[in-house]
Amino acid sequence: MSTTQVAIIGAGPSGLLLSQLLHTRGIDSIVLERQTREYVEARIRAGLLEWGTVDLLNEAGVGARMMREGLAHDGVELAFDRRTHRIDLKALTGRRVMVYGQTEIQKDLADARVASGDRIVWEARELAIHDFDGRRPRVSYTHGGERGEIECEFIAGCDGFHGVTRASVPKQRISLHERIYPFGWLGILAQVAPVADELVYANHARGFSLCSMRSRTRSRYYLQCPLDDTVESWPDQRFWEELQARLPDKYAARLVTGPSIEKSIAPLRSFVAEPMRFGRLFLVGDAAHIVPPTGAKGLNLAVADVRVLYQAIVEYYRAASETLLDEYSSRALARVWKATRFSWWFTMLMHRFSDETFAYKMQLAELEYITGSQAAALAFAENYVGLRC
Ligand code: APR
Ligand code: PHB
Repeated sequence: MSTTQVAIIGAGPSGLLLSQLLHTRGIDSIVLERQTREYVEARIRAGLLEWGTVDLLNEAGVGARMMREGLAHDGVELAFDRRTHRIDLKALTGRRVMVYGQTEIQKDLADARVASGDRIVWEARELAIHDFDGRRPRVSYTHGGERGEIECEFIAGCDGFHGVTRASVPKQRISLHERIYPFGWLGILAQVAPVADELVYANHARGFSLCSMRSRTRSRYYLQCPLDDTVESWPDQRFWEELQARLPDKYAARLVTGPSIEKSIAPLRSFVAEPMRFGRLFLVGDAAHIVPPTGAKGLNLAVADVRVLYQAIVEYYRAASETLLDEYSSRALARVWKATRFSWWFTMLMHRFSDETFAYKMQLAELEYITGSQAAALAFAENYVGLRC
C-alpha cells in the first residue's frame, strides 16, 4: 500500500497540471493513467488558449516553450455571406488569445513531471476508487499484472468523459445534462502555411468550416460533416475542394493545400455533471463537462477547474480550512455553465442544421448584428477571450 496526499486519476492536461501545481507547493500526489505516455501524447486536440490558461501554465513553470513558440492573436475573423469581418479582441477587451496545441502542452507537462521525479503510473488498469465519502479514500488498480493500492486524502477525477470516477458516483447523487448535435467535425493537420494570420470561423450554406493553425507552417482545418461520415470517404483532395467551396473568395484563392498528417472525425456534444464534488472526490475537466469545439473552451475550462481545486487544496494544507474545498463545485460550475452557453450558442450560430432558409437568415442577421454593433461584438469577444469568472 502506498500513501499520498492527492491521488489523481488521469494524465491528460487536467491531471498533469494539477499534479505539477501541487508539487510547486510541496503537496504530494500520484497520477494513475490507463494509457501509455506515447498514446496520450499522440492525441490531437484543440489549440487555442485563453490568457488565464497561459498565466496558470506559466505559474506552474511549464510555459517557457509556449511563450517562445505559441502565436498570440489579437483578433479573430467571422466569415459569412461571402464576406469576412474581423473582431478585434484586443481593442474590445484588452486581452488576446494564444495559439499553441494541446499536444504540446501535454508534452511540456509530462516533461516537467518526469523532471520533478514524481510518481506517474502509466498503464494503470482496472482502477477503482473506494471510501471517497470518508477521510481516507483509497484507489486500487493493477499494473503489469500486479495489484496496487493507494491511500490518500483526496481523489481528483481527471479521467475524462469516459473515465471511472464520475461513473463511481451513485446515480441519485449526480445530475447529468446533455445535448448531442446532429453533425461532427472532420479535422485535418497539414504542413502548409495557414490561409490567414488569425483564425477564421466560416458560416456557409454548405456547412461550417474553421481555419486554424499550429504554427506559421502548420495548419489545422475543420469541416462540419454528417455524423455517420468516415475518414476514408474524405481523401485529401475532396477535403481541400470542400474547404475551398466554403471559404470566402479572398481565402479560397490563397488556400495552400498539401498532404494531411492527421485526419479524424469528432462528434459534438454539450455535457455537464453536477455537482462536481462528492465527499473527498473532485471531478475536474472532461470528467465533469464536455463542450462542442466551437470556441475551443474544453481545455480552458479544464484548466479553470484545476485552478480552483489547486487553490482549495493549498488552503486546506496551509490553513486547515475546508472553505474553498466546500466552494469548489459552485465556483467551477459558475464558469462551466457560462462557457457551455457560449459554446452552444456559437455552435448554433455557425452550423447548418437543416435546409430551412428561415434558420439560415436568422444566423446571417445575428452575424450582421455581432459584426455591426460594438456592444454585440464586445459580448462575443469577452466570451471568446474567456470570462473573468
Ligand atoms: N483509469 C486511469 N486513467 C483513465 C481512466 C481510468 N479508468 N479513464 C480515462 N483515463 C485517462 C485517459 O486515458 C486520459 O489520458 O484520463 C485522461 C483524461 O484526459 P482528457 O480526456 O484529456 O481530459 P482532461 O485532462 O480533463 O482534459 C480536458 O482535453 O479532452 C480534451 O477537449 C478536452 O481540451 C479538453 C481537455
Ligand atoms: C484548433 O486549432 O484546433 C481549434 C481552434 C479553435 C476552435 C476549435 C479548434 O474553436
